[in-house]
Amino acid sequence: MSAMEIKTYLHKKKDLVDKALESIVPPANTFPPSVFEAMRYSLFAGGKRVRPILAIATAESLGARPKGLLPIAGALELIHTYSLVHDDLPAMDNDDFRRGRPTCHKVYGEAMAILAGDGLLNRAFEILSDQKRLKDVPAKRMMAITREIAVASGVFGMVGGQVVDMESEGKDVDFPTLEYIHTHKTGALIRASVRVGALYAGVNEKKLKALTRYGEFIGLAFQIADDILDIVGKQEDIGKDVGSDLKKGKKTFPSFYGLAESRNRAHEVVDKALLSLKDFDAKADVLRELAKYIIYRVN
Ligand code: IPE
Ligand code: IPE
Ligand code: MG
Ligand code: MG
Ligand code: MG
Repeated sequence: MSAMEIKTYLHKKKDLVDKALESIVPPANTFPPSVFEAMRYSLFAGGKRVRPILAIATAESLGARPKGLLPIAGALELIHTYSLVHDDLPAMDNDDFRRGRPTCHKVYGEAMAILAGDGLLNRAFEILSDQKRLKDVPAKRMMAITREIAVASGVFGMVGGQVVDMESEGKDVDFPTLEYIHTHKTGALIRASVRVGALYAGVNEKKLKALTRYGEFIGLAFQIADDILDIVGKQEDIGKDVGSDLKKGKKTFPSFYGLAESRNRAHEVVDKALLSLKDFDAKADVLRELAKYIIYRVN
């Protein structure tokens, strides 16, 4: 699979995910319309859908068909979008642009942005516990998947990472703290996305272990790339404010190591991700290309 083919793959899967999202988020005229409008505003602003696509690609790498996974993949994106809406709030990163538009709170106000985030988060678990929608996934498997997502997005995962990110602003922290921030605020949900695809496919222990390592490495690489893009990215590409981290004294890879060394580290981490897949056949080529895409992306 080439870089060109991965672009086509991403495009196709994004369409699939967007259709699934359309069917799990009620229309904007649902009562109370203000909150549904705000939820949809942020959700359908054009995210890359990396987490749902990772879940799908992982399931496919194990030979599973992704159709029954789509509501689960959608739930991952709902949680990710909620995290962005809250991350941008004045009390957190205080950013004005996201996904190429003014941030949710800029348009709907802070209170509604908080509630829209809450709505997105809860909607994810409404979907994950919807037996009718997920009738083709064995109940035990569904329980493991739901727990995986709950833990990864909570205090032991993303929320924990966001806490330490906030508390480290403008402070001298050591490298383990920086690594904790990255592997938790971003790494945890990416790792979970891979694992969820694997659990859905009925993965064995050995392969789950390898895929988990793959997920951990690409999760870290993803946030290193995000830190780099915050410096070298163009606003029209990344769809968010450039230079936001420096302004707030965020602890990032470039703030620790500079740009060139951060790029080296990102490459090293992606190499480790690729090595984790050494026993996988050609069906895992998409995962291999996704790992590379994560550091070469411009948005
Ligand atoms: C941005 O995530 C926030 C991080 C966790 C680094 P993405 O880069 O996946 O953002 P979207 O979903 O494409 O907007
Ligand atoms: C985002 O980290 C982490 C989460 C949203 C959980 P950042 O604060 O670096 O993400 P961006 O750069 O605003 O997208
Ligand atoms: Mg942040
Ligand atoms: Mg931010
Ligand atoms: Mg960032």
